[in-house]
Amino acid sequence: MFNNSVHGKILCKNCHLNLDVIPHNDAKKVDCSTKCHVKEPSRDVEFSHGNLYAEVNESIHGKGTPGNPKTFSEDMPGCTDCHLNTVYKPVQGFDQQPGISRDTLRRCISCHTEAEWATRYYQHFAHRLHRSKTALETAKLCLNCHQDEQMMARHNLPATSNYKDTFHWKGVLYNDKNAPDCISCHAPIGYSVHSLKSMHDPQSPVHRTNLQSTCASADSTQQCHPGAVESFATGKIHQTEAGFDEKVAAFVKGEPILDGVDFLERRKRYESIIESEGVDTTSLDATERFQRKIYLLVKYVYTLLITVVIGGMLIHQLMDFYRTIKNRKNH
Ligand code: HEC
Ligand code: HEC
Ligand code: HEC
Ligand code: HEC
Ligand code: HEC
Repeated sequence: MFNNSVHGKILCKNCHLNLDVIPHNDAKKVDCSTKCHVKEPSRDVEFSHGNLYAEVNESIHGKGTPGNPKTFSEDMPGCTDCHLNTVYKPVQGFDQQPGISRDTLRRCISCHTEAEWATRYYQHFAHRLHRSKTALETAKLCLNCHQDEQMMARHNLPATSNYKDTFHWKGVLYNDKNAPDCISCHAPIGYSVHSLKSMHDPQSPVHRTNLQSTCASADSTQQCHPGAVESFATGKIHQTEAGFDEKVAAFVKGEPILDGVDFLERRKRYESIIESEGVDTTSLDATERFQRKIYLLVKYVYTLLITVVIGGMLIHQLMDFYRTIKNRKNH
């Protein structure tokens, strides 16, 4: 199984250092930035994940430097929190039939007659033609931490568990290829999942200025909202925007209002003039009077309907009950 995994060509002791004696007495924790002792053929240099290490460390998920760690750096995901040593899977999806792998491999082996070599390179390449995690796996991975309210509060972030209340999640759950998981929006084409940024950073795909193009998802294999206009992209995705609850609380307590509560006030006034009984209709303008008329009409028809339906049902049940009792006496 190990040989069939993405690290199958690497020796155990290239990752697990200090295994020179048995039993191993000084085995170190694996550090993914060590040199792997394989050559990367395009440039013929010793390969290592050191570059990704630096990239992740500069991202919002970075742990900081040893001398100057970020606060609660133990909450940050490292390579092995997000990655397993994945076993190569045969290519499927993209409307390809299962079995395509064996068919293609047959062609490679006609030239590269060393079958094991050809299989290895075929898998190496084909594995990258699809996402290594399904959308469902990705959402679960990220939510592991991001639905943990206490952990997120330590970093002044709201938990994003309400992703599961959205149609996006329903789509992911039922395997809709176009439904976005966390990566579709937070690291779309042109961005890297290893350099995620805060939403307030202009380099983030969910920064205000980039949202329209993120929603439109041009160039992606996912078809999202190609016609997204600027106002479309102003909708909230994770509704628990920091500060929203405070605004509502301030409004309820009658404290000086923060931005945006104007809207709530207008709506409240509107509801009271349309719905309450003793409103002086002369104080309303023409539209408001018309809307009130419609509202009252709907209200009366609805009340009438409820009375007739429920009342009729009640009479029917009573008659049925009377007949049942009577029949039982007769027999
Ligand atoms: C690509 C690097 C890599 C290679 C190659 C590799 N491992 Fe690991 N191994 C890891 C990582 C990462 C862990 C997780 C523990 C850690 O972070 O130290 C691990 C964990 C383990 C553990 C559990 C250790 C513990 O403390 O629970 C064993 C046992 C192990 N590996 C044996 C092997 C053997 C045997 C091989 C060769 C067939 C091998 N590994 C090859 C990276 C590697
Ligand atoms: C028509 C014969 C032929 C077929 C079919 C073929 N290859 Fe090759 N391959 C070659 C030749 C010749 C080279 C070396 C010349 C070159 O790099 O273009 C090569 C080079 C390569 C290399 C680069 C090796 C290195 O170390 O630089 C890889 C990897 C590779 N092939 C994989 C594959 C895979 C996977 C398939 C099947 C999908 C495949 N090849 C199909 C003839 C073929
Ligand atoms: C927050 C989670 C996360 C962290 C932390 C993370 N990665 Fe990734 N990584 C991903 C995701 C998600 C992908 C993209 C998978 C896809 O598009 O299929 C990816 C892709 C990769 C790829 C390309 C995958 C392939 O084989 O095609 C490599 C290599 C990689 N990561 C290595 C690392 C290393 C090394 C580290 C540590 C320095 C690391 N990652 C840290 C989530 C993470
Ligand atoms: C449809 C696109 C989309 C999806 C899917 C999505 N996000 Fe977001 N995310 C956004 C946008 C846009 C923002 C900026 C704030 C807002 O509009 O709600 C954001 C903000 C965030 C924030 C910062 C929250 C804040 O209010 O400060 C975090 C953390 C986050 N997302 C994590 C996730 C995780 C984890 C997932 C997967 C479970 C996910 N997102 C799925 C678009 C998305
Ligand atoms: C091991 C826990 C963990 C995992 C797994 C994890 N994150 Fe995070 N993430 C965090 C922490 C902690 C922060 C806060 C970092 C900070 O504020 O310095 C964060 C911050 C973020 C932010 C920045 C929010 C903002 O606007 O400030 C985004 C976006 C994000 N994560 C997305 C993701 C995505 C997408 C995934 C899955 C690929 C993921 N995270 C997986 C712990 C995690």
